[in-house]
Amino acid sequence: PEAITIQELANRMSERAVDVIRMLMKQGAMHKITDVIDADTAQLIAEELGHSVKRVAASDVEEGLFDQVDDSTDTETRSPVVTVMGHVDHGKTSLLDALRHANVVSGEAGGITQHIGAYQVLSPESGKKITFIDTPGHAAFTAMRARGAKVTDIVVLVVAADDGVMPQTVEAINHAKAAGVPIIVAINKIDKPDAKPERVRTELLQHEVQVESFGGEVVDVEVSAKNKTNLDKLLEMIALQAEILDLKTNSERPAEGTVIEAKLDRGRGPVATVLVQRGTLRVGDIIVAGAEMGRVRALISDQGDTVQEAGPSVPVEVLGFNGPPEAGDRLAVVENEARARQITSYRAHQKRENAAASISGMRGSLEQMMS
Ligand code: GTP
Ligand code: MG
Repeated sequence: PEAITIQELANRMSERAVDVIRMLMKQGAMHKITDVIDADTAQLIAEELGHSVKRVAASDVEEGLFDQVDDSTDTETRSPVVTVMGHVDHGKTSLLDALRHANVVSGEAGGITQHIGAYQVLSPESGKKITFIDTPGHAAFTAMRARGAKVTDIVVLVVAADDGVMPQTVEAINHAKAAGVPIIVAINKIDKPDAKPERVRTELLQHEVQVESFGGEVVDVEVSAKNKTNLDKLLEMIALQAEILDLKTNSERPAEGTVIEAKLDRGRGPVATVLVQRGTLRVGDIIVAGAEMGRVRALISDQGDTVQEAGPSVPVEVLGFNGPPEAGDRLAVVENEARARQITSYRAHQKRENAAASISGMRGSLEQMMS
């Protein structure tokens, strides 16, 4: 059911909330400014105050925000977005660190402070960029997928050669398969004396991951994050897979993207790491993500540099949100603040209602438990 707070209703009519409350009182109902009234009552009040009412459905509010279906204008090639997954201690962080320090886009080796959990690496042979997302574990991946956010083009599955396929390896395989994302296997810790890469391949076979040497199509690369062995080869395999995927985009349109992570920074206010997926995000753009809106005040690259814009597959820190959005929220650029406010107030309302529904659901089950 549609509903609105008295404050919101007053704002939209540019009336004072007390006048709305007075009007409600005339009808015999006592209300506070924060109270929620149903849409029919709201319409009645608005009309009595001399306003014309247009009820807006979800489809109207969200319309045109993400025209994912219309990809006919996506003709530019974009960099692949890669998520590294695997069992605990199999070397995901080490591998990401090694890749980053070996081949950071700027060409600066080592010593670069990592500002955001997503960055671009240059594939040395093809000279192509690869975007890596350093999601903190599988939970984030699952959460994003559950919220309909598709950010990953390729999963790099890290399996330690001395440990083999473990529960979280299997979990990662299942995630990748469910999301329909191709896997590239990085058999890590190949430097260890007890490394058994062939055993890893056999174990993977039991989970329907068939590597090329076993007649399958999944590419595997033996690497050592510690000794930086075969990292270039891994990057080339990713670039090759990206070519097969033929990833396209359109950088000319208003930006669309996904929030990778967001926080409230003491000095800088709400900060969101966003992966731009289509279009170009620019300083000054009016943005919405989930129930939050804002105007882009600054964009900060994975190198920590202030930039004026970010195109497809580029991760950036976005400053200027009124509040931190949530990981997995889709970001969109809208025409003006009024539109942004319409979208976010609608979503905030939906969110409150869902929360209320789940609380009353909880109460219900609690009562059942007590009886
Ligand atoms: P996160 O979950 O992202 O923290 O990464 P991870 O837990 O998968 O593994 P992490 O990179 O933290 O590595 C776990 C341990 O394995 C560390 O002690 C690393 O030094 C070690 N390690 C990682 N890669 C290699 C490698 O190629 N060779 C050897 N010998 N040790 C490695
Ligand atoms: Mg670790």
